[in-house]
Amino acid sequence: MDLRPLEEATLYDRLTEEGLSRLVNKFYDLVHQHVVLKEIFPPDLTETREKQFAFLSGFFGGPSLYMEKYGHPRLRMRHLKFPIGETEARAWLECMRQALRDTVPDQKLREDIFAALARTAVHMINTGT
Ligand code: HEM
Repeated sequence: MDLRPLEEATLYDRLTEEGLSRLVNKFYDLVHQHVVLKEIFPPDLTETREKQFAFLSGFFGGPSLYMEKYGHPRLRMRHLKFPIGETEARAWLECMRQALRDTVPDQKLREDIFAALARTAVHMINTGT
């Protein structure tokens, strides 16, 4: 039994592995349909789902699955080949907000996850538009 106070629990502890899997799957269902995002993402998102699950596992304080399998993510560099402006970052976050609403019942947890991802999404912006 984990008796650490709640504030010390990581986002991963609070979300759980199953919760992360539900979130990532819902997120890419929405990305796939999104008018802006479907233009830049590949049509088959199977591998993207797997990589994002692995990445967010470590990002939220759980097992570093992405690092173990693919090495250092160098996330901003990996995104440079895609034009990401404010429009794309907003669209990405819109899908994430919706996926959180649909899969995470705990509102405080939704807000904490969204805040962490919003900071990273802004960091991915690589065009002036
Ligand atoms: C700001 C808006 C963002 C856009 C438009 C965007 C777009 C993309 C695209 C097009 C791919 C390639 C998909 C593929 O070829 O499989 C990708 C991969 C990925 N993205 Fe993003 N992304 C954004 C933000 C983020 C954020 C905030 C994170 C993490 C918190 C993230 C994590 C990843 C990861 C882990 C991959 C897989 C990298 C790999 O190929 O190993 N992205 N993203």
